[in-house]
Amino acid sequence: MELSGRGIARSVVKRANSFGATPISSRGVLNRAVGRLGGADGSGALRKAVGGKVVLVTGASSGIGRSAAVRLAAAGAKVLLVARSEDQLNEVVNEVAASGGVAVAYRCDLSDLEQVDVLVTKVLDAHGHVDILVNNAGMSIRRKVRHSQDRFQDFERPMQLNYFAAVRLTMGLLPTMVERESGQVINISSWAALVRPARFSGYSASKAALEAWSDCVQGEVIDDGIVFTNVHMPLVRTPMITPTKLYNRMPALSMDQAATVVCDAAVSRSRRVTPLVAAWASFAESVSPALGDVIRKNAI
Ligand SMILES: NC(=O)c1ccc[n+]([C@@H]2O[C@H](COP(=O)([O-])OP(=O)(O)OC[C@H]3O[C@@H](n4cnc5c(N)ncnc54)[C@H](OP(=O)(O)O)[C@@H]3O)[C@@H](O)[C@H]2O)c1
Repeated sequence: MELSGRGIARSVVKRANSFGATPISSRGVLNRAVGRLGGADGSGALRKAVGGKVVLVTGASSGIGRSAAVRLAAAGAKVLLVARSEDQLNEVVNEVAASGGVAVAYRCDLSDLEQVDVLVTKVLDAHGHVDILVNNAGMSIRRKVRHSQDRFQDFERPMQLNYFAAVRLTMGLLPTMVERESGQVINISSWAALVRPARFSGYSASKAALEAWSDCVQGEVIDDGIVFTNVHMPLVRTPMITPTKLYNRMPALSMDQAATVVCDAAVSRSRRVTPLVAAWASFAESVSPALGDVIRKNAI
């Protein structure tokens, strides 16, 4: 076996690709995604993949979800925007409409599962089905476990939003996807689900749980034309990361680049989209958990 750095990198990429995964790096995102999508919103492969389709994006009032929704609408998708902030959702609706697209806002607190059920009913009544569901709404907590000793909510809250809400929404929309033998569920997971870095136990566990759930269900709907795509998103400069000053010094994707990653996932329908650095960390973990520990101790 080749043991040089470049050799290992090549074999990681090869291995990832053999599982239907798309490895990404910050530079790769810039080069590949712009090239693959033709570099123009609403044109080529993306228009073909999403044009005329109903795409529901959760967390569409801000950050990655907002940028992705605008791009998907520009490519001809009818986008259904879900979040709690009505004013911000309406801004996105207006932005989409101003450029000739179609967007509909749905105010919903996804952490409340009864509201998720109401959302499903409203969406199916109005649109009949959803072609692509982007489970993007999420929250992150960066805290050492010893500082959460009296804060069990640090584990409950991310599970409620990042896992249970996404499961409930997916379960609500999946039957019509199965009936229509067509659909895609794109989970905006995180590289943290693979690396499991120190201080992110609640967050990483919630993202990893959704990925495990999705992979199991994929096995049940594999012959129904439905694909689950887990995107191991790297750091992105959004409002979510602004409270952590340390991130100012770290490389991060722009919101536009992250939107490209999401659009690329809709085009490729890959099962997994993984940044190269996380693929490396995952490989290290599979060789030795002790090697993984070195990475997670020093990750962020
Ligand atoms: N930024 C990163 O570095 C990064 C890296 C990896 C993965 N991610 C993942 O990417 C996704 C988007 O994050 P972002 O960075 O774009 O963050 P963001 O700008 O803070 O956006 C989060 C979105 O989720 C919505 N949301 C939060 N709680 C909600 C609730 N209870 N019900 C409905 N919607 C809710 C927010 O809308 P309202 O507040 O209006 O409800 C907002 O639209 C998250 O799942 C995050 O874990 C982010």
